[in-house]
Amino acid sequence: MKLAVLTGGGDCPGLNAAIRGVVYRAHRTGHTTVGALDGWKGLRDGNFRTLTPSELSDAVTRGGTLLGTSRTNPFQDETDATHLLGSVRAAGIDALVAIGGDDTLSAAREFARRGGKVVGVPKTMDNDVGGTDWTFGFDSASSVAVDALERLRDTARSHHRAIVLEVMGRNAGWVALATGLAGAADYTLLPEEPYREEELMAKVRAAVAARGYALVVASEGTPLGTAQGSVAGQDQFGHELLRERGVGAYLARRIEELAKVETRSAQIGHIQRGGPPTLFDRILATRLGVKAVDLVNEGRFGTVAVLRGAEVQGIPLEEALVRPKLVSAPWLDLLHTFDA
Ligand code: F6P
Repeated sequence: MKLAVLTGGGDCPGLNAAIRGVVYRAHRTGHTTVGALDGWKGLRDGNFRTLTPSELSDAVTRGGTLLGTSRTNPFQDETDATHLLGSVRAAGIDALVAIGGDDTLSAAREFARRGGKVVGVPKTMDNDVGGTDWTFGFDSASSVAVDALERLRDTARSHHRAIVLEVMGRNAGWVALATGLAGAADYTLLPEEPYREEELMAKVRAAVAARGYALVVASEGTPLGTAQGSVAGQDQFGHELLRERGVGAYLARRIEELAKVETRSAQIGHIQRGGPPTLFDRILATRLGVKAVDLVNEGRFGTVAVLRGAEVQGIPLEEALVRPKLVSAPWLDLLHTFDA
């Protein structure tokens, strides 16, 4: 068979490890692999490169995606969709492995509905794909955010300030949760909970009274209600560009006004998405890439390789796309056990 692999949506550490897993397993089981460049765009426009194991030997160690990516939705209009299916036929592609988050996987589901042979691999620093316990990219991104919080602690302690660290994650608070929990923040704000301004001020005041400084972690998707900043448009899948809301900067202003504590904010943005993957992400991405090819070999198209407990397995794309995975009540309970 001739397999194609693509990476769609935001990049994250572990994508190259997953591509490498696909290419090595395909090679071992007698297939060739081409990579579609820049996600669905490359598949639609017939932009491919041949992938061989030898050139990917150390790809497991590298961040980003060697295939490039984009937030192209190939099913946004019918002309594009027809173009895509024609281009897959013309390139003689027998099966596709689509690596991405909810958007890429919903495009994969549509591809399957139109007769395409596809298997998905979930990725995202947001960790919000349903049906899988963890997505690769999340551990690496959260580790960067924890490192940032530790650096901010030095400055907060030296200047007797409050500092708000704004992290990504879209409408899921996993990165904020992990950063707050593992980095010992005094207060953590997530999209899954209402914005409780008085509680935030009380925690900041208590932390400053106890040891002279306070650290707050806020997800970019924190629901600030009418107070939220401007919205800077949407991507092709209809998602708001949340970082433009300036949640961290807004909270810092409010803390200065209400808690009367000198405050700074830091938005680490895409720094969270770059750099080498952690051990966990390297292994998870490798396992899922390999599993995707196993699913192709078993003829289980329309499925996605996921992690359930310690096992990787294939589940229907439909099942993974029922709803995004948000931070659940037991995790919130764990987080708030450690509030200041
Ligand atoms: O989905 C991953 C993510 O990093 C989100 O956490 C963030 O809101 C978004 O992508 C940023 O998108 P872009 O890279 O297009 O600015």
